[in-house]
Amino acid sequence: MLLQISGVSKSFGAVHALSGVDFGVRAGEIHALAGENGAGKSTLMNIIDGILQPDDGRILIDGKPVKIASPTEAQRLGIGFVHQEIALCDDVSVAENIFMSATNISKSFLMDYAGQRRKAGQVLARLCDIDPATRAGDLSISSQQLVEIAKALTLDCRILILDEPTAALTEKEAQLLFGIMRKLREQGIAIIYISHRMVEIFDNCDRVTVFRDGRHIVTHDVADIGPDDVVNAMVGRKIETLYPDKLTDPATDTLLSVRGLGDGARIHDVSFDLRRGEILGIAGLIGSGRSEIVKGICGLEPAPEGEIVLAGKTLRRDEYRDAIGDGMVYLSEDRKGDGVFLEMSIASNISALRPEQVAGRFGLIDRKREFAQAEALGKRLNLKCGSLWDPVSSLSGGNQQKVAIAKMLSVDPRIIFLDEPTRGVDVGAKAEIHRILRQLASEGVGIVVISSELPELIGLCDRALVVREGRISGVVAGDEMTEENIMHLASVMDAERVTANEKVGQ
Ligand SMILES: Nc1ncnc2c1ncn2[C@@H]1O[C@H](COP(=O)(O)OP(=O)(O)OP(=O)(O)O)[C@@H](O)[C@H]1O
Ligand SMILES: [Mg+2]
Repeated sequence: MLLQISGVSKSFGAVHALSGVDFGVRAGEIHALAGENGAGKSTLMNIIDGILQPDDGRILIDGKPVKIASPTEAQRLGIGFVHQEIALCDDVSVAENIFMSATNISKSFLMDYAGQRRKAGQVLARLCDIDPATRAGDLSISSQQLVEIAKALTLDCRILILDEPTAALTEKEAQLLFGIMRKLREQGIAIIYISHRMVEIFDNCDRVTVFRDGRHIVTHDVADIGPDDVVNAMVGRKIETLYPDKLTDPATDTLLSVRGLGDGARIHDVSFDLRRGEILGIAGLIGSGRSEIVKGICGLEPAPEGEIVLAGKTLRRDEYRDAIGDGMVYLSEDRKGDGVFLEMSIASNISALRPEQVAGRFGLIDRKREFAQAEALGKRLNLKCGSLWDPVSSLSGGNQQKVAIAKMLSVDPRIIFLDEPTRGVDVGAKAEIHRILRQLASEGVGIVVISSELPELIGLCDRALVVREGRISGVVAGDEMTEENIMHLASVMDAERVTANEKVGQ
């Protein structure tokens, strides 16, 4: 065993994140680690990377006990870690971000800057065509994730930890990453791969370990078991992962009507209706303008062209505050950037959109009311936390996502726009979120979901708009809602362009 974890425990106050966990990884294997949100996966990885110290237990590398006091120490031991949350320095270039981590472990006093930079460029080129000189903060989330991966790959590690690396990637980017993982496996590198997507685990990994409530439940060769076994081990009970029933009898009245929406740059002439009771999906490639359309409707980004009519009333579109006043809320795909306030408590986050709802005398926040609201919504979403007064930063990734959703539900919205709502959410909670969305739709709330995960879009939505280069290229519903149809509508222009270029080249 290259890496052996033995009897590791870790508590945060009353929360037992890990209880006597054993976990071993061999050289040259891709070992999946699965478990519900809050099962302790990231906590164990933080211990292996020296960010956290275990309360108990041992870590052995090549059979020898090691003490990993810091991430620098972990790097020296050959451990590379791609964190669940992206944490690039926004203000410096991609190249600097990538080789920043490598500089401090250079063995000589003289730093080979040029060499490092070249290497950064080479590693990055294996994954994507991002210009290393770009300011990191200007990149899309998926590109930032690729930079994080490139950063770890430059370290020449023996053990590579990938904590939900594909949550923000496109399918194509994910496939590239899997190709690289297979090459690293051939070189004898041990890879720990954390994901909530069963397909990824079963297509790419050799073994899978399941954690539940901070305990090791099973480790199996992937060949010996099926996705259902993993899900059952994760949740410890049978769960309903089927999508909720679709709308059988669509209402004819329109809740939201968008006509000719445009910003003169990234979105053009967008028109569609959202009917009462339906869940409308928005599909499209990353960068196609899906989020811009929704942000334009909510007034989060300027979209001066066109008209938006909500339940018969034409909307002004100057401020987000107005959108909330009108009953429209938006769940950003960038949870850390503008979904939640990480250092604020869970309860205060949930009440943040409309604090007056929980205000007491003199307009001050009534903590009891704030708590009651958070408790009710937390229960509804099956939120796992120590106390509702803990900061959101103390929650596992998927539970942070639930807080972001609870925050939106707190204002009793008429329309909810959700951008990648179940990214990083475990299978059980994901099904739960789908059920809640369907329930809200049946109560008359308009639901618009942007998702890059086509099975989710097809399984959940009654209809889907497909966006291509800032325009709606098609609307699919019923039997026509297939991955092929959506992909075709989302990308056919690119194909045309390729043919055109090829023709020019002839
Ligand atoms: N710094 C912290 N302070 C308090 N509690 C914490 C802290 N870090 C983690 N926890 C708690 O430890 C438990 C395990 O969290 P962890 O992040 O390891 O889960 P996870 O398996 O990675 O989940 P996810 O799939 O959502 O990422 C959770 O209950 C979480 O709230
Ligand atoms: Mg995690």
